[in-house]
Amino acid sequence: MLKILNVVGARPQIIKAAAISREIKNHFGDKIKEVILHTGQHYDDLMSQVFFDEMGIPPVDFNLNVGSSSHAVQTAQIMQGAEQILLNEKPDFVFVYGDTNSTLAVSIAAAKLHFRVVHIEAGLRSFNKSMPEEINRIVCDHVSSILFTPTWKGLENLKREGFSAETKSPFSMNNPGVFHCGDIMYDNSLYYSELASGKTTILQDLSLKGGDFILLTVHRDMNTDNPARLKEISEAMLEIAGKMKCKVLFPLHPRTRKNIESEIHRETYKKLQNSDKIILHRPLSFFEMIEAEKACKLVITDSGGVQKEAFFFRKPSIILRKETEWVEIVECGAAHLTGTSQGEIIKAAEHFLSSPDLNFPSIFGNGRAAHFICNKLLENT
Ligand code: UD1
Repeated sequence: MLKILNVVGARPQIIKAAAISREIKNHFGDKIKEVILHTGQHYDDLMSQVFFDEMGIPPVDFNLNVGSSSHAVQTAQIMQGAEQILLNEKPDFVFVYGDTNSTLAVSIAAAKLHFRVVHIEAGLRSFNKSMPEEINRIVCDHVSSILFTPTWKGLENLKREGFSAETKSPFSMNNPGVFHCGDIMYDNSLYYSELASGKTTILQDLSLKGGDFILLTVHRDMNTDNPARLKEISEAMLEIAGKMKCKVLFPLHPRTRKNIESEIHRETYKKLQNSDKIILHRPLSFFEMIEAEKACKLVITDSGGVQKEAFFFRKPSIILRKETEWVEIVECGAAHLTGTSQGEIIKAAEHFLSSPDLNFPSIFGNGRAAHFICNKLLENT
């Protein structure tokens, strides 16, 4: 029996890990044993527990409860806690997802103890090292023993950094295996797309109809912690909602709520609150998010996951950043990169709300990435 330590910390990782948990439960229960480590990076129920409940993820075996702090402190606390669990549990593989501080911390702690790290969502690059996530993903890739890329672009990026897709098992840090497998988020979106409809009343509760609203999310520190940028985004949304007579559903990440409610944004926040078009909301559950993504007419976001889910559900997106790791969705015209310039956001919204012909080519695999990953693991042990 193969033992894996499945590591989660931030909201999107819980969602990604659910695909692996589900696959193990349904198809590999007699061959793979899963132990779940939650770092506690996200700790509010609406950022964490709700996803376990909705997606039927087994209970967490270990929770480090690190909570929020500076990058160095958060990373160090996770490393310290993870080291002890690794030594006690001795997993065959350590699964880490994406690019958060939890990914970085556990991958380093594991690699230094010579545990084999499996990086899921490997190879993505924004080519902007001022993002903490870019540092996290580069370091994690380079201490991993098996790397699974969600896109072909991810595989190309790894080859450019010296990885080879021709290595043969046994894989290790010094002889890493690299595979393109498709996106496990796509697995989830396909799996839950129909299930979610019967399980939430979010659209009825908010009197939203299919095709009559924009879904907005903002959580990156580069936007939320910069008052000028947060103001520009807010003003752009007020203008778009007013001019185009369109509602805007805006679920607030805790960091965003804290900042937008602060004194410096008093005027803007009042305008948002008083607008009959803008709905300021608590964070959505995964099922609620899927329903909103399926029903909206446009997504505006700085999230990596949300821009991609928009694409899965054939919705255009405006990305509130200057670059993206998911370049394919920009190249095919389904997404525009606007940064936070008010003028650029409005221009892109006018474009997408004029119902242009859009293409959503197959970029993210066949929805069976988790199956591929489990199979590869068993083949290569
Ligand atoms: C983290 C990831 C980011 C990912 C995002 C998903 C890093 C560097 N960033 O960003 O890549 O896209 O998660 O959401 O790892 N907070 C709460 N309750 C919570 C969680 C956070 O109140 O449950 C607040 C805290 O005030 C904290 C702030 O949000 O200071 C930021 O949380 P943090 O975990 O540092 O990063 P995220 O912005 O969530």
